Amino acid sequence: MKQIIVTQDLRKTYVMEGDIEIKALDGVDLEIEEGAFVIAMGPSGSGKSTLMHIIGGLDRPSSGKVFVNDEAITELDEHQIAVYRRRTIGFVFQSFNLIPTMTALENVALPLRLNGVGRRERLHRAFDLLSMVGLKDRLYHKPTQLSGGQQQRIAIARALANDPPLIVADEPTGNLDTTSGENIMEILAELHKQGRTIFVVSHDPRMTRYADRVIHMLDGKMV
Ligand SMILES: Nc1ncnc2c1ncn2[C@@H]1O[C@H](COP(=O)(O)OP(=O)(O)OP(=O)(O)O)[C@@H](O)[C@H]1O
Ligand SMILES: [Mg+2]
Repeated sequence: MKQIIVTQDLRKTYVMEGDIEIKALDGVDLEIEEGAFVIAMGPSGSGKSTLMHIIGGLDRPSSGKVFVNDEAITELDEHQIAVYRRRTIGFVFQSFNLIPTMTALENVALPLRLNGVGRRERLHRAFDLLSMVGLKDRLYHKPTQLSGGQQQRIAIARALANDPPLIVADEPTGNLDTTSGENIMEILAELHKQGRTIFVVSHDPRMTRYADRVIHMLDGKMV
């Protein structure tokens, strides 16, 4: 079986005032198989978001390597990493991160625009994605006019816009009530069934039943 994510001795160190070092990641060797559904758990401050951000190409490690689909993303320049973020990975944040001035449809279509897809096709695809997450009757709503669960479903539709093989989500249910959270996990489970690789951070032990593997982080290490 092919590994879609491989990290090698991944480290992220922050040097604070008074030369105090914080090891947000302290030598992480992680392998995730293509098509797996993996949940990362661990206490606050254990390095989960740091790990997700580095894998998502949103942050750089202090040392170590990350391979995604056999590409060493830690060696890419800024332009190449932007292409990686647009094509290979869909990132879902705890706080949704939608663009407040744009409608649901425009938010989902935006990554398609950045990939040079024409207007007709992008609106078509955005509509299909919003239908898939159960929001085809909210196309012209702006984020503030939607519930948290609805906003997160839009964020998932947006993450899927360019049909990435890998979805990375950092506490996607953290700001949601139980029912909305379950709904988000069901959608992720469906994407997993369709063959995508899903890597999710969660604090909620009830979510582990969706995963085929749970990893635990503590003090910047996998335990
Ligand atoms: N920009 C930064 N500067 C200094 N320290 C940082 C920075 N970002 C993160 N850290 C530290 O790195 C450690 C890991 O942070 P991280 O956000 O990865 O934790 P987490 O496991 O996601 O926690 P939570 O469950 O609260 O989201 C923490 O101790 C944090 O204080
Ligand atoms: Mg975090």
